[in-house]
Amino acid sequence: MPIETAASVVAEVPADAALLAVPYSADLDPPAVVDLRVPVAGLFAHYEAKGEAGEIVEVPVARGDGVGRVLLYGVGDGSPRALRKAAAALTRRVRGQDELVVLTPEGDVTAFAEAALLAAYSFKIGAPGRQPVAALTFAGADEGQVRRGESVARAVALARDLANTPSSVKNPAWLADRAAEQGLPVRVWDEEALRAEGFGGILGVGQGSASPPRLIQLSYTPAEPAARHVVLVGKGITFDSGGLSLKPTDNMKTQKTDMAGGAVVIAVLGALARLGAPVRVTGLIAAAENMPSGTAQRPSDVIRQYGGRTVEVLNTDAEGRLVLADALAYADAELDPDVVVDIATLTGAMSVALGRNVGGLYATDDELAGQLVAAGRESDDRLWRMPLIDDYADGLRSSVADLANIEVGSTYGAGSITAALFLREFAGKRPWAHLDIAGVGRSTVDEGVLTKGATGFGVRVLLEWLTRS
Ligand code: BES
Ligand code: MN
Ligand code: ZN
Repeated sequence: MPIETAASVVAEVPADAALLAVPYSADLDPPAVVDLRVPVAGLFAHYEAKGEAGEIVEVPVARGDGVGRVLLYGVGDGSPRALRKAAAALTRRVRGQDELVVLTPEGDVTAFAEAALLAAYSFKIGAPGRQPVAALTFAGADEGQVRRGESVARAVALARDLANTPSSVKNPAWLADRAAEQGLPVRVWDEEALRAEGFGGILGVGQGSASPPRLIQLSYTPAEPAARHVVLVGKGITFDSGGLSLKPTDNMKTQKTDMAGGAVVIAVLGALARLGAPVRVTGLIAAAENMPSGTAQRPSDVIRQYGGRTVEVLNTDAEGRLVLADALAYADAELDPDVVVDIATLTGAMSVALGRNVGGLYATDDELAGQLVAAGRESDDRLWRMPLIDDYADGLRSSVADLANIEVGSTYGAGSITAALFLREFAGKRPWAHLDIAGVGRSTVDEGVLTKGATGFGVRVLLEWLTRS
């Protein structure tokens, strides 16, 4: 159930459009494409309309023997952010209708089309709710810009669908099947292959579940020889109960989306060809279900990560870093990337620090950090750079293994930073960035481009970064 709304482009507004949207702003009258038969200034004064983004003034107009509607939509300052808000408000206003013809505004039509389609996303199992508008027709728009916005929106929708799917359906093997549908070369390690090659983190986390773990690799190679090779690593915990360090129900019931990072990697890889990305990209999704059982790993167990380093598992709920460490170490040892970026719903502490609208970014390279922050600003998946505070790494010392998976004694606190420091141990010497999306991976509101549940956060920033910089 992704975005069911169709998108198309026409050169001019059809004279008989029954439902038409026309832009305006405080200092810009709506273009005279339709005769409203009322003075526009009087109309705006009557409705106290100011031209803000999200504002819509509805005017009935004659259409043959019947009545049509014109929606005058405010575009605020015309910035991409304002256009996204305006577009989402329009789509939401016309739910259940057959077609909305939108006279596209000046400015970033890609952002406008992307947001218009994203606001049509819904996920419901069972009787469908109110249907989104069946078709959006963008009049006067550049087709290429609309199609780019559409491709990005549909990739975000795929990431949302994967993360919204209940864990009774979605286990690691299911996730591997979805990855294999992206039309790219795929390699999947099952539990035997994982054991043979020493992926002790993924195996340890997955060993309590009836559904065995997988490591999934997707490869995108552009038509022209690429200058860079980027590896994306996603956390693919298809359900995080905490394991024997069991979570309380209230914290557990949101954890079907603990594979949101992996979903983003699958959706991004799937969209790269459509968007003509010039870089080579390998996606790794470390998939496991974290469950308590007679076969589950215990607090105090020692595991051997890919590459041989040992980790004392003091809390089985700090599982994301264990599966990611294997994938990061594998990328460093075998894939020879120029840059590695991982994305994960890693720590509750991240959402305490940055809340629900801004994702956390850690990086060992200033240029990479700058590129990702800029791409976040452009794409509206906003990121804030967090510090890797070296002293805090002391907290991860273990008396029996090379490292502990949580900070013993909580001397330093800062759970999101210590988690990032743990990952850094396995990322190697190459430029590496880590996106902690625990706060932004889910939405509690149905508003603008967001719907309740999975957000697909990360798809837009990574596609922006990989295709435009
Ligand atoms: N998947 C959780 C993080 C999370 C929490 C994501 C809330 C989304 C919403 C992660 O595996 C986890 O349990 N982290 C622990 C780490 C702790 C045990 C050191 C946490 O954040 O509490
Ligand atoms: Mn956990
Ligand atoms: Zn988790």
